[in-house]
Amino acid sequence: MSAGRGRALGPPPLLLLLLALPPGAGLPVSDVCATCHVHATCHQIEGKSACICNYGFVGNGRTHCQDKDECQIGASKICGNHTLCHNTHGSFYCVCLDGFRASNNNKIFIPNDGTNCTDIDECEEAGLCGYNARCVNTEGSYECYCNDGYKLENGERSFHPNASSASCKEIRCGSPPEMKHGYIVGNYSLVPGSTVHYECKEGFYSNEGKSSYCTAEKAWEPATLSCKVVDCGVPPAILNAHQASLSGTAYGSEVTYSCIHGYFIASGNQTAVCNAKGQWDGADLMCKEIDCGRPLLIPHTEIIWDNSTTLLSRVFYKCKEGYYFNGERNFSECTLDQKWESITYICKEEELFSNLTVFNETCVTWQMRTGRLGVQKTYTFHILGRRWDEKTFSEDVILNITTSEDNPKVCLDLNSGSNYVVNITTISSTNMPVSVTVAVQTKVKEAFNNVLIFNDTCLKWRRSVRGADMEDRYLFHVQGQRWYQKEFLHEMTFDLTTRKQAPEVCFDLQPGTNYSINISMVALNFSLLVSMTTQITDPPFPDIEFVAAKGSAPLLRLRKAEDRNGPISLYQVIVLPLGLQSTFVCDSFATATFFSNTTDAKGYVAAEFRARDVADNMSVALGDRHYYGKFYNAPLKLGKEYCVFLRIISEWNKIHHPAFHT
Ligand SMILES: *[C@@H]1O[C@H](CO)[C@@H](O)[C@H](O)[C@H]1NC(C)=O
Ligand SMILES: *[C@@H]1O[C@H](CO)[C@@H](O)[C@H](O)[C@H]1NC(C)=O
Ligand SMILES: *[C@@H]1O[C@H](CO)[C@@H](O)[C@H](O)[C@H]1NC(C)=O
Ligand SMILES: *[C@@H]1O[C@H](CO)[C@@H](O)[C@H](O)[C@H]1NC(C)=O
Ligand SMILES: *[C@@H]1O[C@H](CO)[C@@H](O)[C@H](O)[C@H]1NC(C)=O
Ligand SMILES: *[C@@H]1O[C@H](CO)[C@@H](O)[C@H](O)[C@H]1NC(C)=O
Ligand SMILES: *[C@@H]1O[C@H](CO)[C@@H](O)[C@H](O)[C@H]1NC(C)=O
Ligand SMILES: *[C@@H]1O[C@H](CO)[C@@H](O)[C@H](O)[C@H]1NC(C)=O
Ligand SMILES: *[C@@H]1O[C@H](CO)[C@@H](O)[C@H](O)[C@H]1NC(C)=O
Ligand SMILES: *[C@@H]1O[C@H](CO)[C@@H](O)[C@H](O)[C@H]1NC(C)=O
Ligand SMILES: *[C@@H]1O[C@H](CO)[C@@H](O)[C@H](O)[C@H]1NC(C)=O
Ligand SMILES: *[C@@H]1O[C@H](CO)[C@@H](O)[C@H](O)[C@H]1NC(C)=O
Repeated sequence: MSAGRGRALGPPPLLLLLLALPPGAGLPVSDVCATCHVHATCHQIEGKSACICNYGFVGNGRTHCQDKDECQIGASKICGNHTLCHNTHGSFYCVCLDGFRASNNNKIFIPNDGTNCTDIDECEEAGLCGYNARCVNTEGSYECYCNDGYKLENGERSFHPNASSASCKEIRCGSPPEMKHGYIVGNYSLVPGSTVHYECKEGFYSNEGKSSYCTAEKAWEPATLSCKVVDCGVPPAILNAHQASLSGTAYGSEVTYSCIHGYFIASGNQTAVCNAKGQWDGADLMCKEIDCGRPLLIPHTEIIWDNSTTLLSRVFYKCKEGYYFNGERNFSECTLDQKWESITYICKEEELFSNLTVFNETCVTWQMRTGRLGVQKTYTFHILGRRWDEKTFSEDVILNITTSEDNPKVCLDLNSGSNYVVNITTISSTNMPVSVTVAVQTKVKEAFNNVLIFNDTCLKWRRSVRGADMEDRYLFHVQGQRWYQKEFLHEMTFDLTTRKQAPEVCFDLQPGTNYSINISMVALNFSLLVSMTTQITDPPFPDIEFVAAKGSAPLLRLRKAEDRNGPISLYQVIVLPLGLQSTFVCDSFATATFFSNTTDAKGYVAAEFRARDVADNMSVALGDRHYYGKFYNAPLKLGKEYCVFLRIISEWNKIHHPAFHT
């Protein structure tokens, strides 16, 4: 309102002027004061009155006092930073800029009291920025920034809620990428910074990472993932082993190894498996060559060995002198389990007379077991013999037998029915005499060789006794019985002493008798039973008695005959015309009945009785016209002379032994 604006040089000279020419100078005080400008006040200075413009006004105090624009002095200087300056008539006031507050908490202030404008922290007021955003205070204002994971859609970094309607939107990745031949493991989220982890399916692998990352750009990085199929390739070669089998080269395939021949599994597995990483797992087989080490020592043997200790190497064992081989094998082999096969006690002490046995009564056999083959050996036999009833040895023979057989058989020429002691001696491989004794008993059956029955009642046999002086005594016990005659018994006892080679003896035996003859040799405790059956001979002549011999039916009385020479079977009454008896042939009547012949010139059987039906003194009427047996007792012709026979028949085995009486 007064001097020009800006930084013109005007005001300072004005002030100087004011000081050099005080107002009212030269005028009376009272007058001066009356002339003061309405916005001036009269001041007494060094006894003189002067008009001075009031505070906030500038002028000469009398004619003009115009308002001083304090704000022109420099807003920042007068009100301070962040202020607006308002000039008033004669004064001014300060107001804080938006976003600032007066430190005296008033709306307006005058800076001279030290009041200043300080920045308001708008962020202290909650919720300025809305959801998912945070407030950042600035001098005089504030900015809203989206929280992590949120983003402004317009792409700005920050916003002011008053200035825009922008809001923070959550940042989200889409579905995570799929992994070919793989799958997601664990939990994941779609917010940036989260990671999805994958695993390959069995049999697949990945070398290029198995996770994807959700970036702030809503994208999964990397966007493509895949697993490759596992292939272990050709299984590794293993030293001293060969592949026994291979099921493939894919994941889970197996390869088996075996040690090559002569090698054994020292450690490791025989099977390797193709693992998920495409490696053969467990191909750690170690094969070492078999080594059996030193062979075993076996008692009484010597070793024959080429020092080799590998598989199937052999060590031979040889029996020492005086021992013989008695095993299944004379060698031991180095086996897969790195051991020599055990063969124990294969050599036994020499046996010169093992398993000595007597056979076929007079033969001896034994087994010679020495280590040597085909060696001739001399055996000295000392044979002492005596008969069973003798107390001392009567035979004494020494003989030598030389043989190279391992299993000699010697049959000795010994008398029968004797006890022998046979002492066999030989020389062992250690030059020691070795002897064995065996008892031999010869049986007696040879003393009764070829026993023969001759001439019905005689016996002969053959003595097989060596030495002409040998004498034998036989005891005979003869017993005879008849099957048809219970009470019959014929018994006799006698003895016989003989030196004959073929003795004979005849017995006084009765006919029709079963005999058993017990021949015993007392000395030899031997007996022999011979059965003999004597022939049935003719029965005794029958007794017959005619009580009356006249008329056509004369009475005939029969007597029972004795079973002396055999069993009596039948009685027959034979009628023969007189005069024919000279030509009578007994057997021709055996079956002739009265009706066999038409002429009565020939005889016929008139009656036949079985022996058991005949009673003593039985009467038969001749010609009584009855049948007796199958025979007709025909009436005799009167005036004719007959000759009547009684026939007694001993019948056994269809052999007839008839006896007659007239
Ligand atoms: C005003 O602001 C300026 C620049 O920012 C600064 O240098 C000065 O010290 C401030 N004055 C006061 C009184 O705060
Ligand atoms: C502003 O005023 C306050 C209170 O009177 C004082 O504490 C502060 O130091 C002042 N600031 C400046 C920059 O002068
Ligand atoms: C076995 O070894 C021994 C000692 O090493 C040696 O004296 C011998 O001649 C060897 N035998 C053979 C058959 O090689
Ligand atoms: C072992 O026995 C066999 C026959 O069985 C024979 O040929 C070989 O000579 C024997 N060896 C020894 C060392 O006795
Ligand atoms: C003993 O000898 C008999 C007859 O010669 C024979 O059968 C048997 O096997 C032998 N026993 C032994 C153990 O040699
Ligand atoms: C026993 O002797 C008989 C007759 O002398 C003869 O036939 C048989 O072979 C002999 N047996 C043996 C085992 O020698
Ligand atoms: C049997 O042989 C031995 C020696 O081998 C000899 O001394 C003895 O005279 C012989 N005896 C006979 C009966 O030959
Ligand atoms: C068998 O003969 C030997 C040699 O003559 C003799 O030493 C031994 O005592 C005899 N043994 C018997 C049981 O007679
Ligand atoms: C049988 O006995 C008869 C007479 O008694 C005689 O002649 C005959 O030599 C005897 N037979 C034998 C084989 O002895
Ligand atoms: C006697 O010998 C006969 C004929 O061989 C036989 O049938 C009968 O049974 C024998 N009787 C006796 C008692 O041995
Ligand atoms: C034969 O006679 C002997 C001696 O008397 C007797 O020991 C033996 O038992 C008799 N044998 C028979 C079969 O009767
Ligand atoms: C029966 O008569 C005939 C002739 O007349 C004769 O040849 C025969 O021997 C007679 N038989 C007997 C059993 O008498």
